[in-house]
Amino acid sequence: MPSLADKRILLGVTGGIAAYKSADLVRRLQDRGATVRVVMTAGAREFVKPLTFQALSGNPVHTDLLDPAAEAAMGHIELAKWADVILIAPASASVMARLAAGMADDLLSTLCLASEAPLVLAPAMNQAMWRHPATQANAQTLQSRGATLLGPDAGSQACGDVGPGRMLEPLDIVDGLINTIAPEQVLKGKKVAITAGPTREALDPVRYLSNHSSGKMGFAIAAAAARAGAEVTLIAGPVRLETPAGVNRVDVVSTEDMHKAAEDAADDSDLFIAAAAVVDFRPAVVANQKIKKEDGSDSDVLQLVKNPDIVAAIAGRTSKRPFVVGFAAETEKVAEHARGKLARKNLDMIIANDVSNPEGGFNSDRNQVILIDDNGEQLLPAALKTELATQLIGLIAARAFPSAE
Ligand code: C5P
Repeated sequence: MPSLADKRILLGVTGGIAAYKSADLVRRLQDRGATVRVVMTAGAREFVKPLTFQALSGNPVHTDLLDPAAEAAMGHIELAKWADVILIAPASASVMARLAAGMADDLLSTLCLASEAPLVLAPAMNQAMWRHPATQANAQTLQSRGATLLGPDAGSQACGDVGPGRMLEPLDIVDGLINTIAPEQVLKGKKVAITAGPTREALDPVRYLSNHSSGKMGFAIAAAAARAGAEVTLIAGPVRLETPAGVNRVDVVSTEDMHKAAEDAADDSDLFIAAAAVVDFRPAVVANQKIKKEDGSDSDVLQLVKNPDIVAAIAGRTSKRPFVVGFAAETEKVAEHARGKLARKNLDMIIANDVSNPEGGFNSDRNQVILIDDNGEQLLPAALKTELATQLIGLIAARAFPSAE
């Protein structure tokens, strides 16, 4: 069944070589049942002729803000109201900057300002332009206002560079759009608790033990679970990430705090996902004052005590036990070590990733994982953590709640 049935999509095409792929994107959106109207910027028209999009979409292409004939046919405010969603693909660095600044200096930016529809962007630009702090800040601003970014992907670029900035392929954009505006409700009515990020164990008022976890994977899973209809409690260690839409966030610092919050949330959960990188040991004593160099000798060693294993405690429950999914960050014999943890911690499923692989791991936006349970192993190839999270939620929901399928 087409998942974009009856959706009215305003497709903004901006100036970039990836604009040629947007012609195919129109077709792929229509395949899913959408009606598409295309707005092209002046830059986009240098790459592809409006006639191409008119022929494919079956509708006139909108190009000018102050064109009396166009305004008489379908004025810009009318067009802004018509859209169920505005999708900009490719989204250039320039359009992202103009939208972040709230400009209304051409038809597309004006439509974005005038419309209350969700905004989805598929960025495409040279890797240095994408990495530039200005573009990164604009991307964050747009996301914090509710826009969704699909990609960019990394790889070889038309300019000869290699790096992040490639537009996602049309089919991936369609999947991302469906996940954003019409996701399958595979967790409808389910309560899900998720741990994410690192924990932090104080040594004294200024120092702590922790790790490099960014929390990106756990936050992406929380966002995907919420989109899939779940009531989500996200128990987050100290991270610099925005709370995903529709997610109830509980901030914690230490492992013991995370454990308490997780036990409380698990009492009332159907599914528990442990994506946190928990610090396994804490100092036996936390000093009240800053520890001075002069206080100890060279041979003084930190006394540590073991922290509770949160996911093992919840998986070991005899009552009120949710379906329990753990993560395993490994650097060698990934599947073998993960399988050991699956059994030792009594988990229902474990998601293993190789953190030594440059294609994934702690601070990366991408990851490649192996999903392991008693039925076997499934490799999910390298993808953006946000996309991987959606795939994982689909697979976890199918195993945890098979009757709901
Ligand atoms: O650190 P380890 O490799 O054992 O982590 C495997 C899984 O156990 C992860 O899902 C992690 O979130 C969870 N864990 C936990 N409490 C700990 C240690 C790990 O919940 N103290």
